[in-house]
Amino acid sequence: MSDSAAWNARYEAAPGMFGQAPNLFLMEQAHRLAPGMRALSLGDGEGRNGVWLAQQGLAVTALDWSATGMARAAALAVQRGVAMECVVADAAGWDWPDQAFDLVAWVFVHLPPQDREAVAAGVGRALRPGGWLVLECFSPAQEGRRSGGPRQTELLFTRAVVEAAFAGFEVHALLEGTVLLDEGPKHQGLAEVVRAVLRKPQR
Ligand SMILES: C[S@@+](CC[C@H](N)C(=O)[O-])C[C@H]1O[C@@H](n2cnc3c(N)ncnc32)[C@H](O)[C@@H]1O
Repeated sequence: MSDSAAWNARYEAAPGMFGQAPNLFLMEQAHRLAPGMRALSLGDGEGRNGVWLAQQGLAVTALDWSATGMARAAALAVQRGVAMECVVADAAGWDWPDQAFDLVAWVFVHLPPQDREAVAAGVGRALRPGGWLVLECFSPAQEGRRSGGPRQTELLFTRAVVEAAFAGFEVHALLEGTVLLDEGPKHQGLAEVVRAVLRKPQR
C-alpha cells in the first residue's frame, strides 16, 4: 500500500524514521544556495530537508500528501525558529505554479511512472530558468539491501530514468552507485542510489 493514508500510518507508528538531520547530498549542495532563493521540498515528510533549507535563509514550500508528516514538519520549523509553508497535496495532482522556485529538492520520493512523469513536468514548469533540481532516490540495485526504499522496481530510479524525465535540463551531476546512508533508523548502511544535480536552461 502506498498512498497518503499509508504514509500517515507509517509516520504515526514511527516518528523520525528518516531523522531530523538533512539529507547529506542536499547539504553538499549548500554552495549553490543563497538567502532569498525560493525552494520547494518535494515529498518533504517530517520536514528535515525543508527546514534545513529554511535555515539557510531560503523561502521554503514543503509539500507532502501526508498530513501527519506535514504537521511534524511545521512543528520542526517552529522548533528551529524558521518560517516554512507546508502544503498537504498529492504532487501528481498539484496545481504546479509557473517559475516559482529557484530550487527543488526531490529526496527519496518514489512515484509510479505515470505520476513521476506528471511531477517531473510540474518541476520543469515550477523552476525558474536557471533553477536547480537536487535529487536522490534509490536505484533497482537496492533490492535485497535493508537500508530503505520501496520494493516495487518500477518506482526506482536509474540514470536513464532521470535523463528521460528531465530531458533538456543541464546535467551538473548524475551518478548511480553505492553510498553509506546514516539518516534515522530507516536509512542506515550501504545503499544503491541515483544522485542528480540538474539545471533548467536559462533561455
Ligand atoms: C521516503 S519518504 C522521504 C521523506 C523526505 N523527503 C525525507 O527524505 O525525509 C517519501 C515521502 O514522499 C511522500 N510522497 C510519496 N508520494 C507522494 C505524492 N504523490 N505526493 C506527495 N507526497 C508524496 C510520502 O508521503 C513521504 O513523506
